[in-house]
Formats: sequence, C-alpha cells, structure tokens
Amino acid sequence: MTDIPKAAPGSRTEIVTATWRDLNAVREIESQSFDLDAWPLIDIIGVLTLPNVIRLKAVADGKIIGFIAVDIRRSQGVAWIATIAVHPDHRRKGIGGKLLEEAEAQSDLARMRLTVRRSNRPAINLYHNFGYREVDIWPRYYKGGEDGIVMEKKLVG
Ligand SMILES: CC(C)(COP(=O)(O)OP(=O)(O)OC[C@H]1O[C@@H](n2cnc3c(N)ncnc32)[C@H](O)[C@@H]1OP(=O)(O)O)[C@@H](O)C(=O)NCCC(=O)NCCS
Repeated sequence: MTDIPKAAPGSRTEIVTATWRDLNAVREIESQSFDLDAWPLIDIIGVLTLPNVIRLKAVADGKIIGFIAVDIRRSQGVAWIATIAVHPDHRRKGIGGKLLEEAEAQSDLARMRLTVRRSNRPAINLYHNFGYREVDIWPRYYKGGEDGIVMEKKLVG
C-alpha cells in the first residue's frame, strides 16, 4: 500500500505582505474577531501604511482569511504584536500559528511581546504553543476592566 502524505493543516494558505489595498478585508476580519477591542478605521489604516510595522496576510483561494501586524520598536529591542486575527470560518487550522511564525521570522529584534485579555483562552494557548510566557500583568488594561496579560518570547540573543 502506498502512503499518501496528508496535507498539513493550512498548507494551501500563503502568508504574504499586506498593503493598504487589503483595508476592507482586514477590517472585515477585525470586526468579526473582536468585540469590545475592534479597532477604529484610522488604526487599521495605520498598521497597513506606517513604517516599522510587519504586516502579513493569510490568503487561501484568493481570499484574505487572516492578518497579523507587528510594531517594530527598535529602540526597545522589542517587536509588539499589535493584532492577530483569523476569520472565524478558518480557525483551528494552523493559520494563526503560520502568521505568528512568519512574523517572528521577519523580525530581527531580540524579543516579541503582546498583551492579551486574561479570558482569551484560544489566543493564550496559541502563544503558549509557540513558546511565549507570561511576563507581566496590566491590571484593568482592557475596555470593561479586564486585565491584560503581557507575554514574551525571546527570539535571538
Ligand atoms: C487567536 C486566533 C488568532 C488563533 O487562530 P487559529 O488560526 O485558530 O490558531 P491555530 O489554528 O494556529 O491554533 C494553534 C493553537 O492555538 C490554540 N488554540 C487556537 N484556538 C483555540 C481554541 N478555540 N481553544 C483552545 N485552544 C485554541 C491551540 O493550542 C491550537 O493548537 P491545536 O489546534 O493543535 O490544539 C483566533 O482564535 C482569533 O482570530 N481569535 C480572535 C482574535 C483574537 O483574540 N486575537 C488575539 C488577540 S491577543
């Protein structure tokens, strides 16, 4: 019997640089992914256009199904994940992980950081799986008064 290799989850998904032309698709994913924390339009335009931001989209069958933006704070030696979201119809297929891995590969800084709501189990699990650890708590950081957990991964050095 011949062993046919199984396609890895999300293997038909490409991770490529996003541009301002992706504004509407990114807005749609953000609005479907965040409730209280949905970004205003101006912030989405910012991450798609400002310098010192790694911006990547996940594309499957010509459709954008995920997005990550990472703020490069060179003077602090830290890259901050500003946002990561995968369209609800495409979750749990490894796409969030692919976005994270490619963003890490494109950052040349020593550390990657992010904040996440204490209750956001899917995201916290994702970060744990990829080697991030809790390093701080920002009390009542989020709208509604929920704490922010600061997580970090050392990338180089
Ligand atoms: C967090 C998010 C980006 C994950 O994207 P995803 O493509 O579903 O993630 P992956 O398929 O790569 O999952 C990787 C791992 O994360 C964890 N994970 C992801 N979703 C999970 C869930 N619903 N419950 C528990 N663990 C979960 C698992 O450990 C998973 O590995 P496994 O499937 O082998 O068990 C997605 O859930 C999302 O867009 N959420 C809304 C936006 C958000 O909260 N962003 C984070 C802000 S800090």
